[in-house]
Amino acid sequence: MKIAISGKGGTGKTTLAALLARTLANEGRPVIAVDADPDANLASALGLAPGEAPKPISQMRELIRERTDSREGYGSYFKINPDVRDLPERFSREVNGVRLLTLGGVSTGGSGCICPESALLKALVTHLLLRPDEVVILDMEAGIEHLGRATAQAVTVMIIVVEPGQRSLQTAQTIRRLAGEIHVPRLGVVVNKIPPGLDINRITPYLDGLPLLGTLSLDPDIAEADLEGQSPLTGTDRQTQEVRAILDALFAGAPGTAT
Ligand SMILES: Nc1ncnc2c1ncn2[C@@H]1O[C@H](COP(=O)(O)OP(=O)(O)O)[C@@H](O)[C@H]1O
Ligand SMILES: [Mg+2]
Repeated sequence: MKIAISGKGGTGKTTLAALLARTLANEGRPVIAVDADPDANLASALGLAPGEAPKPISQMRELIRERTDSREGYGSYFKINPDVRDLPERFSREVNGVRLLTLGGVSTGGSGCICPESALLKALVTHLLLRPDEVVILDMEAGIEHLGRATAQAVTVMIIVVEPGQRSLQTAQTIRRLAGEIHVPRLGVVVNKIPPGLDINRITPYLDGLPLLGTLSLDPDIAEADLEGQSPLTGTDRQTQEVRAILDALFAGAPGTAT
């Protein structure tokens, strides 16, 4: 199971990534969580203290140079298929039973250029997605264009996180379109931050046919945990049930695909 998590900023991608990763790890599954958001903060959501977060791969200049055979300055030759097989073990860090890899940002100057950093990261993500036997959870950003087809097609499912509001619901439809273009095999939505008393049926019409995988309640304990720099996994019965339902929907394969 290779899960990519996307959605508008602030909807709860990192929160969901941490909840899924930690729950699966608690059940004894091998899980690797990949922080693919340039504004990386999955480490603290998994329970790492500030300052203990691993250094982003994109900042490892020597490694990038060595693996891609590149020299300073763009326009020069570099390998687009660097060997990355040893990197997950070397640079991941274990947190509460989850292995965490932080990719970091690549400055493309807005041109979406292919540079040595992005070649290395792309190769690394594709390699992880193609390895059998472990669950991969990719915490991404709303802009998924840079994923590339090979990477997108190796994902089992992309979760789009939305909040009960038009802005994130509209972003979800944009992501849906992009995901279709790069052929992500399966999409599903998690509606997060549902306030008490809000009927989910008020939201589903706006999903416009995107399958609903599950929901997470608006939870003051999650806000409090974040304020304290702690993991959102509070272990309340409600949270456990909600996360379980999302995982069941993911692993059951239902509800179908729609891109
Ligand atoms: N279910 C929830 N209840 C309360 N606060 C939440 C919930 N989910 C996320 N949050 C808070 O919303 C903010 C954004 O969440 P985050 O997971 O960082 O979003 P993203 O990764 O999509 O930018 C954080 O402050 C987080 O603690
Ligand atoms: Mg995030």
